[in-house]
Amino acid sequence: MVEHVNQPGWADVEEYLSTTLVRGGAGMDAVISSTDAAGMPRIEVAPTAGKLLMLLARIQGARRVLEIGTLAGFSTIWLARGIPEDGHVTTCEFLPEHAAVARKNIDAAGFGAKVEIRVGPALQTLPTLAGGDPYDFVFIDADKGNDVNYVQWALKLTRPGSVIVMDNVVWEGAILDPGEDPDAAGIRAALDFIGSSPRLDATAIQTAGTKGWDGFAIAIVT
Ligand code: DHB
Ligand code: MG
Repeated sequence: MVEHVNQPGWADVEEYLSTTLVRGGAGMDAVISSTDAAGMPRIEVAPTAGKLLMLLARIQGARRVLEIGTLAGFSTIWLARGIPEDGHVTTCEFLPEHAAVARKNIDAAGFGAKVEIRVGPALQTLPTLAGGDPYDFVFIDADKGNDVNYVQWALKLTRPGSVIVMDNVVWEGAILDPGEDPDAAGIRAALDFIGSSPRLDATAIQTAGTKGWDGFAIAIVT
């Protein structure tokens, strides 16, 4: 695809930044080995990105976090680390077998009481979350074809000042020309929605490293 993605320096720099600034992150090696052992895809956020989620949650003072897309719980644990003892993470996972791996990882990391995993299609779970206290922070990292629906649900479940972060917003550059790629089309639809919503003030940062060329969108609810 794009030439500079394959420059070895980007992954090497990522490794250096991870080693120097993230320093492993307690318990995270076990999450990665459990992902491999279960034959699950290695599409969790990079350690630097996981720590960014933790820092954003802390900077914002988040107490209630909603995550869409649990996988093995890697980002879930980072988010749980970013909120106070009495904070709460609700995380939605489509596949029961992934949720079971995540449950073990989250419990082993010491966040069992803080994290609730809701199994099933997130579009069925999200309506059941309405009516409770608003979420302070939402992380969207699931099936990209539904990204615009997830952003719209995030808006319903948050308050002014809440933060919404969406993963995979560059998709190796495919968002510029989605063609037949429904993931790229879904990501682009969500970005177009975010950019035109009067209730969101947003930007995006591109990332390049161990996960190739991708990025995060970051928005505040106004
Ligand atoms: C992929 C990467 C992701 O971060 C994700 O959420 C889903 C898929 C991928 O590289 O295929
Ligand atoms: Mg992702």
